[in-house]
Amino acid sequence: MRVGILGSGLMGGKLGTIFARAGHEVVFSYARSKEKLNKLARDAKGKARAGTPREAAQDADALLLAVHWSRLDDVLKQAGDLSGKVFITCSLPMNVGDTELVVAHTSSGAEELAKRIPKARVVCAFNTVPSEVLFDVFDAKRKKTRPSLVYCGDDQSAKDVAVQLIRDAGFTPVDGGPLRIARYTEPFALLVAQLAYEGEDGPELAYRFERFRG
Ligand SMILES: NC(=O)c1ccc[n+]([C@@H]2O[C@H](COP(=O)([O-])OP(=O)(O)OC[C@H]3O[C@@H](n4cnc5c(N)ncnc54)[C@H](OP(=O)(O)O)[C@@H]3O)[C@@H](O)[C@H]2O)c1
Repeated sequence: MRVGILGSGLMGGKLGTIFARAGHEVVFSYARSKEKLNKLARDAKGKARAGTPREAAQDADALLLAVHWSRLDDVLKQAGDLSGKVFITCSLPMNVGDTELVVAHTSSGAEELAKRIPKARVVCAFNTVPSEVLFDVFDAKRKKTRPSLVYCGDDQSAKDVAVQLIRDAGFTPVDGGPLRIARYTEPFALLVAQLAYEGEDGPELAYRFERFRG
């Protein structure tokens, strides 16, 4: 697939590299320096290049949104027409100080994003994973037991695209249901991040989603 990366920092840089190594054509975009984007593309050692957000969006089978919430308007404006695009978001609607969600309970960042780009098909995924673990999961992807990753969205064909990328990153995808489920995954993601950054004195955190049937 052609995958456009909007925001090439901790999440976008790592996931884009993983997607390129998994065989996808990746365009890294939206960092403060073009040199950083070029280096990411070189180091990805797959089919990857640097581009503008508009170039990343053009002909993309999937777009990954991985910017701080405060950059949302800017990156959407730069990306141009997003009609029909599969838009996978890991971006959490955080305040400027990164201490709290600014959208929660009655809506979610993913739902607000879908309202902003009504012609795109939004899937919420990768938001619950700390970027630190991404390469380890990818490297261990041939193992029998893979960590689960919950995703949600309202468009089945867009979710199918997300499922392939989630598998390529080394996770077992778990369909959380419609996009409004992001109201639950986003606060969970914040909790995971807060615990992870408590440092050495913080609790050891391990989590796992089980699938309940019937
Ligand atoms: N990090 C995690 O573990 C994690 C986990 C789950 C979800 N998330 C969510 O994922 C999203 C991205 O997080 P992140 O940790 O990847 O953030 P990040 O490392 O700060 O990456 C953000 C990207 O946006 C770019 N950017 C920022 N300001 C810009 C500007 N003025 N012009 C152009 N580019 C600009 C940054 O450029 P530079 O490369 O030049 O800095 C960087 O490439 C956030 O919404 C976060 O809540 C993060």
